Amino acid sequence: MLSVDTAVVEGGIAGLTTAAKLAEAGQSVALLERDRIVTGVTGHTTAKLTSLHGLPYHHLADSFGVEDAGRYAAANEAAIDDVEATVGTLDADCGFERMPAVTYVGPDGESGVGTVREEVSVARQLDLPASFVGSSSLPDDGEAGVRFDEQAVFNPRSYLLGLAERLAEGADTHLFEETTVTDVDDGEPCTVTTDRGTVRADDVVLATHFPIVDRGLYFSRLEPKRSYLLAVELGGTPPSEMYYRTGDPHFSLRPLPGEGNTALVGGQNHRTGHGSPTVDRYRRLAEQARARLDVESIRYRWSTQDFTSVDTVPFVGPSPLADHTYIATGFGGWGMTGGTVAGRLLSDRILGRENDWASLYSPERLTVTASARKFASHNRHSMEHYLEDYLLNRPPERPLALDPGEATVIEHEGESVAAYRGEDGEYHTVSAGCSHMGCLVEWNDGERSWDCPCHGSRFDVDGTPLETPAVEGLEQLDFGSD
Ligand SMILES: Cc1cc2nc3c(=O)[nH]c(=O)nc-3n(C[C@H](O)[C@H](O)[C@H](O)COP(=O)(O)OP(=O)(O)OC[C@H]3O[C@@H](n4cnc5c(N)ncnc54)[C@H](O)[C@@H]3O)c2cc1C
Ligand code: FES
Repeated sequence: MLSVDTAVVEGGIAGLTTAAKLAEAGQSVALLERDRIVTGVTGHTTAKLTSLHGLPYHHLADSFGVEDAGRYAAANEAAIDDVEATVGTLDADCGFERMPAVTYVGPDGESGVGTVREEVSVARQLDLPASFVGSSSLPDDGEAGVRFDEQAVFNPRSYLLGLAERLAEGADTHLFEETTVTDVDDGEPCTVTTDRGTVRADDVVLATHFPIVDRGLYFSRLEPKRSYLLAVELGGTPPSEMYYRTGDPHFSLRPLPGEGNTALVGGQNHRTGHGSPTVDRYRRLAEQARARLDVESIRYRWSTQDFTSVDTVPFVGPSPLADHTYIATGFGGWGMTGGTVAGRLLSDRILGRENDWASLYSPERLTVTASARKFASHNRHSMEHYLEDYLLNRPPERPLALDPGEATVIEHEGESVAAYRGEDGEYHTVSAGCSHMGCLVEWNDGERSWDCPCHGSRFDVDGTPLETPAVEGLEQLDFGSD
């Protein structure tokens, strides 16, 4: 059996950064990834590297205090420098480029010009490179914006594959892809059980996006959100800044340096398992892009999801009720800096180094003022679904007859069945009860997946888990068809 100092579970930015920092410090490390590395959200992100996460600083200063808002700022600014320094040590071309980041509000934004001015003022007090931007320098209907200088964009896939290559060369580092971790026993040493064997480790980092071993009731403290991206070919040169429109509708824009006139646009955020039909989301995002930009063609489209903590600060640190297990999650759509901060925090903690940001990010923190509203709405949502699924709206009992490409949830002999008929006419029938906590899954027509509206698990049409918190798949059912 393999024994290492630290086992890191997942191969996205949080896990790979942590593993790299521990290996650099001389630790033996095993990294265990269910899929191939950098194929999760990290491989499908917009990859803005910025400490300007929407309009965060006024909220942070109000609900956490100015000192903690300053820690958040310092941690995320340090993450940009950290990535830049690491890029300099890699052979890979990571497309790292410094540029300003702008968050702006439109006339219908939830925050007005006054809020933007306050954000600039708080950010400047925190030594952030912030300035106010008026409507004449903003895209489309922007009324006011906050601009942070010296932010960056990069290609996280090239960057992390470069880090992984270096890890794989180490005598004491082990990278296991297509290896699903099914359990972690927190002990001395810890035991990490996978579908391909067992690893012993003094410490375990669980960075599986949503922790697969939930000792901190994270399902009640993390809200899952999907959003949509298009790679568009523009008629003219893309802007040399990155933009984020807050309020309704959210809209994100970043240039892709080195890719000619291609730019990435994003938006259409919604809670996972809600907001169908999702194919319409791509159409609406394309309309928004065309209304704002000179779009010649759409080259690619995809969607992905992230989890936001109920108080908006990620959970990074020791897992509650465990001595040697650590978690990193809840990046809220800003995990490029967040995952890099996690790498620094977790490696410092495991190596016994002090870190001034630790208490702010602690998964055990209690932040009633900052989290009350989101905590209540997230859990009301999940509870409503659970009750509706089990008491009020049982799926209809009817014969299974679908056209190719169609999907439905029906009741059959007391069991809820999720059925999809492929374009080739073949039926795929699985149990509709989510393997996490039993809510009924919903069809996502854009991605052809079964998505859980309660806490964000997602499954392929054959029941294979695609997104945590679920670890187990949906049970395959043998079901008659027309
Ligand atoms: C549309 C969109 C745009 C975004 N844009 C930005 C941006 O511009 N800037 C920014 O900072 N952030 C952005 N983010 C957020 C950022 O991409 C994420 O926060 C970050 O990539 C999360 O990284 P991660 O390492 O936590 O998770 P992931 O990259 O998702 O990695 C999780 C990994 O865990 C593995 N795993 C799961 N279960 C198991 C198991 N049982 N055993 C082993 N492995 C397992 C999965 O296979 C997966 O590879 C965006 C997010 C979205 C949704
Ligand atoms: S994700 Fe929790 S019940 Fe489905």
